[in-house]
Amino acid sequence: MIPKKMEEALNGQLNAELYSAYLYLSMAAYFESVDLAGFANWMRIQNQEEQFHAMKFYDYIIERGGRVTLRRIETPPSNWDSPLAVFDATLEHERKVTGLINDLVYLAREEKDNASEIFLQWFVNEQVEEEDNVSTVLGQLKLIKDSPQALFMMDKEMGQRVFTPPAAAEGGA
Ligand SMILES: [Fe+2]
Ligand SMILES: [Fe+2]
Repeated sequence: MIPKKMEEALNGQLNAELYSAYLYLSMAAYFESVDLAGFANWMRIQNQEEQFHAMKFYDYIIERGGRVTLRRIETPPSNWDSPLAVFDATLEHERKVTGLINDLVYLAREEKDNASEIFLQWFVNEQVEEEDNVSTVLGQLKLIKDSPQALFMMDKEMGQRVFTPPAAAEGGA
């Protein structure tokens, strides 16, 4: 049986992942509103990834004999000043999530909950990738500054992103 404190914290993270999904869906809507369909696509994929993360916590809590309890999802912002501002906010958000995941790992250790510590390692790696992906986009946006042509080209590239369920990539884990 899963320690009560751990069950509580994992339910908190389930909510945080759903908030991430909501935030990226809001960013996708912002990009649609400024006619950057490629950036909007990138954020829609990001939304799908966060829903996948949320379901990973959902399934794990149940697998451990815990109880999933859904909470209210906070309203995300809906406006940003520029694509650069969106990605600044995204990097800041992902860094915050990395901190949340690290805190869960420390709690798992405190509670001597080895299964949760191992489960969370997937998210530790995932956060490294998330921060790296976002930093790459942010770096490109800083390079192109305010060139509409470059932004147009980048939008085309951002439109190429597709969702690959990470479990399938791992061989159905
Ligand atoms: Fe996530
Ligand atoms: Fe994320």
